[in-house]
Amino acid sequence: MSSEIPLTKIKGLGPVMAERLRASGFATVESVAIAPARVLAEVLGVSEERAAKISQAARELLGIKFVTAEEYFKQRSKVAYISTGCKALDDMLGGGVETGAITELVGEFGTGKTQLCHQLCVTVQLSEDLGGLSAKAAYLDSEGTFAPERVVQMARRWGLDPSEALRGVYYARLRSVAEQVASLLELRRLVEEGVILAVVDSIAAHFRGPAGPDALTRAHELAVYLSSLRELAEEQGVAVVVTDRVSAAPGLAELRPSADPIAAMFVDYRVSLHKVRENVRRAQLEFAPWPARRSALFAITEDGVVDV
Ligand code: GTP
Ligand code: MG
Repeated sequence: MSSEIPLTKIKGLGPVMAERLRASGFATVESVAIAPARVLAEVLGVSEERAAKISQAARELLGIKFVTAEEYFKQRSKVAYISTGCKALDDMLGGGVETGAITELVGEFGTGKTQLCHQLCVTVQLSEDLGGLSAKAAYLDSEGTFAPERVVQMARRWGLDPSEALRGVYYARLRSVAEQVASLLELRRLVEEGVILAVVDSIAAHFRGPAGPDALTRAHELAVYLSSLRELAEEQGVAVVVTDRVSAAPGLAELRPSADPIAAMFVDYRVSLHKVRENVRRAQLEFAPWPARRSALFAITEDGVVDV
């Protein structure tokens, strides 16, 4: 796999420079390949021209692998779906939340992003005939809004034992970009222990900040982070679900997710959530790997996310 290629295989990059890159969070050849030359130059202390050559060499090293359509078809047929616990949403998504892909939930505060994330942590544990994968979830919480009581409440709907439902969710509170990036290592280990769903609620909390010289670095860090999540999804078949709060950007009439448009380059499905009334919400499929623009209604009740 490309992520296992050592950095020192990149033409023109010696062990000392490789170490400098690793120390700044560039762990993979991919991360070097997509880094802006200006950022690489700064990290390595070399000219931008030399940095550009290094990132070009990283891109060449990655190459592109072709598979036959038959192999691709076999890979695709291994894809599984996790039911959201709401039929209208499952139908909109083509069966539920897809494994091996990233699904992004965007919406204003209170639109149900966190509620859906909680519910998926329960439904992934259900048996296949109930729409689950008999698997575990990891909840990476950068907002501090994870509520185990809510998991217990939702688990009751399917008659799951509360302690068992809680044991099926690994939880980590992430307080900084560094913690968010560091959690990826542990996440890889958890996947080996049966985690198939990884939730990041929210993706952008720690990457937000004022416009200015730091904005480019933050944008780059977010891109590297998302590309690591992509790798996890594609190579390990994990269903990755990330949330992003929509807010009004100065000078923009429209509401925009804070990680947009960077996230758009990495996610497969984007679902926007909108308040309709009190506890009713509308989900809109903004984009998917297939041409689609569909929507679904759902409600948030004591039981969790349910059909209207
Ligand atoms: P931000 O994280 O603030 O951007 O919002 P969010 O999109 O994550 O919203 P969240 O998922 O937290 O949804 C909040 C809505 O869910 C609230 O408006 C409540 O109506 C509803 N809700 C949350 N917890 C419960 C609960 O325990 N019972 C019921 N009935 N509704 C709940
Ligand atoms: Mg939330």
